[in-house]
Amino acid sequence: MAELTLRILTTADWPLWRDLRLAALADAPDAFKSRLADWPHGGEGRWRDRLHRPDAHHVAAFLDDTPVGIVDGLPGSPDGVRELRSLWVAPQARGRGVADRLIEEVESWARAVGGTTLLLAVLPGNVAALALYRRHGFAPLGEPGELLADGVTRELLLAKPLR
Ligand SMILES: CC(C)(COP(=O)(O)OP(=O)(O)OC[C@H]1O[C@@H](n2cnc3c(N)ncnc32)[C@H](O)[C@@H]1OP(=O)(O)O)[C@@H](O)C(=O)NCCC(=O)NCCS
Repeated sequence: MAELTLRILTTADWPLWRDLRLAALADAPDAFKSRLADWPHGGEGRWRDRLHRPDAHHVAAFLDDTPVGIVDGLPGSPDGVRELRSLWVAPQARGRGVADRLIEEVESWARAVGGTTLLLAVLPGNVAALALYRRHGFAPLGEPGELLADGVTRELLLAKPLR
């Protein structure tokens, strides 16, 4: 059985982060608001800039030596809100608890940096992600999320209190 490990990414990990982000957007375009085309196809500098955000927590998951998942923890607003973003697990690694571990890691980070609420946005038709987040204690925030490019659908905002 392959061993699941997590690695907290630094700016030096930009090639890995780039590869995982592009793989996620290519694999699951219906799960993310941003499009593959929105992401830079430029060089190292643009990717480093995008990865380097003060107070952010970027995490990759590995099964043995193979990178299979990614998630970002980001500072939110107002104070105390932290955001979980861009969760993705490669199709061949799904159903083995990789997303569980990635969510738990962002939750631990959010608590450690004084977060009181963990917030995320999910597209309404994403049944798998909604079930996963519900199981982790996230509930609808009751506020409308951002409007999508179709001009009709809105993201669903889910939140989990951390205290
Ligand atoms: C959603 C996603 C992250 C789950 O990753 P995963 O590693 O398979 O998740 P885990 O193994 O930790 O947990 C599986 C859970 O996902 C949910 N799930 C997975 N596939 C599902 C499906 N087809 N229908 C309903 N729920 C599903 C269930 O809650 C399941 O829990 P269970 O095993 O107790 O039934 C993964 O499918 C993915 O990357 N999808 C594409 C990108 C995406 O949707 N990201 C979220 C953006 S908000």
